[in-house]
Amino acid sequence: GHHVSSQRIRFQRRNRPCRYDIDRFAPSFLSIFESLVPSQDEIAKQKQLLTSLSRIINKEWPNSKLYLYGSCANSFGFSNSDIDLCLSIDDKEMSKVDIILKLADILHAGNLQNIQPLTRARVPIVKLMDPETGLSCDICVNNLLAVINTKLLRDYAQIDIRLRQLAFIVKHWAKSRRVNEAYQGTLSSYAYVIMCIHLLQLRRILPCLQEMEATYFVTVDESNCAYFDQVDKLNNYGAHSRDTVSRLLWAFFHYWAYEHDYTRDVISIRTGRIISKERKDWTRRVGNDRHLICIEDPFETSHDLGRVVDKFTIKILREEFERAANILQFDPNPSVTLFEPY
Ligand code: GTP
Ligand code: MG
Repeated sequence: GHHVSSQRIRFQRRNRPCRYDIDRFAPSFLSIFESLVPSQDEIAKQKQLLTSLSRIINKEWPNSKLYLYGSCANSFGFSNSDIDLCLSIDDKEMSKVDIILKLADILHAGNLQNIQPLTRARVPIVKLMDPETGLSCDICVNNLLAVINTKLLRDYAQIDIRLRQLAFIVKHWAKSRRVNEAYQGTLSSYAYVIMCIHLLQLRRILPCLQEMEATYFVTVDESNCAYFDQVDKLNNYGAHSRDTVSRLLWAFFHYWAYEHDYTRDVISIRTGRIISKERKDWTRRVGNDRHLICIEDPFETSHDLGRVVDKFTIKILREEFERAANILQFDPNPSVTLFEPY
């Protein structure tokens, strides 16, 4: 039936060599990358917002600290992307919701606008707009693992520029094809960046920082976060490889379309390898976690970033991976066709 023949096609394509002229498309992918990178001016405005909000909040809570996290701090953010902030505060008396409500009052007094405390969200936040810079942002409370995984991604990005090039293009593809909507069962931007890091680890363009001797350690909510963070010492690591961004893109989509074993494998940047679902006990559905595509979080190792994917969206995702792989293999204009809106 249909299932058997699509398995056979996948098997035949698994060892398909990359088209001979793939490098010809690198310049057009690079110019797409350049067009998505935020300007220095925008980055300066984000820093200015962090400084002014920190000043306002610290007056009330001198022991608190405000951090940027997510795409505006992990170096995978597009121009005009939203700003994620996290307030770290040690107050045993107040619940998260109390802190969010008080924070909203503090921000009101500090003349910020459009302040909305969302206390019933899965992750409670305050939304606001800063009239000085015109920027809008979300502030969450005590979500320190997100701050630390932001640093890990930023550190990886410093080792080899091709990680940022690849991840920007993959994110741009995912947004164009509407498969970057975790709340609708596809994958988050965070998950796509981890998938890119993993591919570059397998190709020895990136090392595995968590397997190296640790120079940075923190413990957050029972997770030990330790890794080698002196990445300025590693900026020759991938120099042996002359793979261009277009070749890496081909490899990325070819891997997820034809090579990845969805029934057995978990990708893990913590180990720099593929590990088995069996070892993680991710072979069956537990609660709402179906483990149909398994992407291990580098620090919260019991956390599968693919857990939001269900039996409908896995099909959509795999069809999109195959579409992209075939465009990179055959299309005369892959840097246009790849991003055609869904
Ligand atoms: P864009 O806003 O799409 O440009 O990307 P982003 O990097 O801000 O990604 P996203 O909104 O997916 O995630 C924001 C941050 O939340 C990530 O950078 C992580 O630090 C953190 N995070 C931690 N665990 C998870 C998770 O399971 N899912 C998501 N989405 N984010 C997580
Ligand atoms: Mg974001």
